Amino acid sequence: MNKLTITQPDDWHLHIRNGEMLKTVLPHTAQQFARAIIMPNLKPPVTSTQQALQYRNEILLALPSESDFKPLMTLYLTGSTTTQDVKQAAECEHIHAFKLYPAGATTNSDAGVADPKTIYPIFEAMQQFDIPLLIHGEVVDHDCDIFDRERVFIERTLSDIVRQFPDLRIVLEHVTTSDAVEFVKSTANNIAATITPQHLLYNRNAMLVGGIKPHYYCLPILKREQHRESLLEAAISGNPKFFLGTDSAPHQTGSKENACGCAGCFSAHAAIELYAEAFESAGALEKLEGFASFFGADFYRLPRNNRTITLTKEPWLVPDSYGQGEINITPLKAGEQLAWKLEAR
Ligand code: DOR
Ligand code: ZN
Repeated sequence: MNKLTITQPDDWHLHIRNGEMLKTVLPHTAQQFARAIIMPNLKPPVTSTQQALQYRNEILLALPSESDFKPLMTLYLTGSTTTQDVKQAAECEHIHAFKLYPAGATTNSDAGVADPKTIYPIFEAMQQFDIPLLIHGEVVDHDCDIFDRERVFIERTLSDIVRQFPDLRIVLEHVTTSDAVEFVKSTANNIAATITPQHLLYNRNAMLVGGIKPHYYCLPILKREQHRESLLEAAISGNPKFFLGTDSAPHQTGSKENACGCAGCFSAHAAIELYAEAFESAGALEKLEGFASFFGADFYRLPRNNRTITLTKEPWLVPDSYGQGEINITPLKAGEQLAWKLEAR
C-alpha cells in the first residue's frame, strides 16, 4: 500500500502550552487533526470554566488563519474543585472533561490531588453531570518503583473509582503497560484509554541503551518490550476502548538535555505518520482509521469528522529542531526518516 486515505483524525490528549511555545506547536497539530483535547497543566493550571475559555481564545488567536481546528478544553482537578465548578463546566459547550493529576506525578502537577478519595464527591458530580474524568494513572509514593507506578495506581486507586462510580466515563490516559490494557479491556464500555506514538514505537531500551536519551523520557516512562507489544496489540485490535492521544508535550531542548530533564516527547510535528509507522509494523494499516478517527469521537459523543486526510509512502527527514528565536524543540525522531508523509506537507 502506497497511499492511505482516512477520515480526518482527532488528538484526544495534547499539551500545547501558551505564549510563544503555543504559537510554535499549534500549527503542527492543526495541520493534521480536526480537534484535540487540550491538557490544562499550565502554570498556573486551568481550574475554572472562565480560565478555560480564556485559554481557548488564546489558542484560537494562535491558529493559522485558514484553520478550523477546534480545541476541546479540559479543567484541572484540585483539592478546591467544587460541585458547582463541575456543573458549570458540564453546561459549557467548550469544556469536555476534567483531568486528574496525582500531586507530584508529572510536569505541573503540584496543584493536583494528593489523595483522590478526598474528591469522591466531585467524581459523584461528574458522574451526575456526565462529564468525563481523564486520569494520569500513576502513584507517587517514593517507595514505588517508577516502572510499577501505573500498575499500582490501577490496583490501589483506579479499581476503586471504577467500582464506586459505575456510570462515570473515564479515560486512563497514555497507557503504558499490559496491566493497563487488561484492566481497560475487563471493564464496562465507559472506561477507555489513549495510547501515544512513543509507547507504540519504543521500549525503555530506546531511552537507556548506549547512553541516556532524554528526548524519549516522558511520563509514564517507557516500559519493557512485552508492554509495548500489548499496547500495539490493543491499538490494532479494533476495540473502540483504545484510541489516539499523542500526549505531545513540548519542552525547550535545553530543559530536556539537562541534569534534571523534563518529561515529555514532542510528537505533534508528525503524529499521524508516527502512528502509521507503528500500525504498518504490525501489518494493520487498515485499523488506523478506527483508532485515529472514530473511537475517540464516539467516546466523547461528538460527531465523526467529514473530511479526509491522505498519507503517502514517501520518506522524509524529520528536522533536528522546531522553533525560532527563543524556542527550540527537539521532536521525536529528530534527524531520522519517516516512511509516511501527510499530503500537503
Ligand atoms: O511526559 C509527560 N509530559 N507526561 C505528562 O504527564 C505531562 C507532560 C507535560 O506536560 O510535559
Ligand atoms: Zn499528558
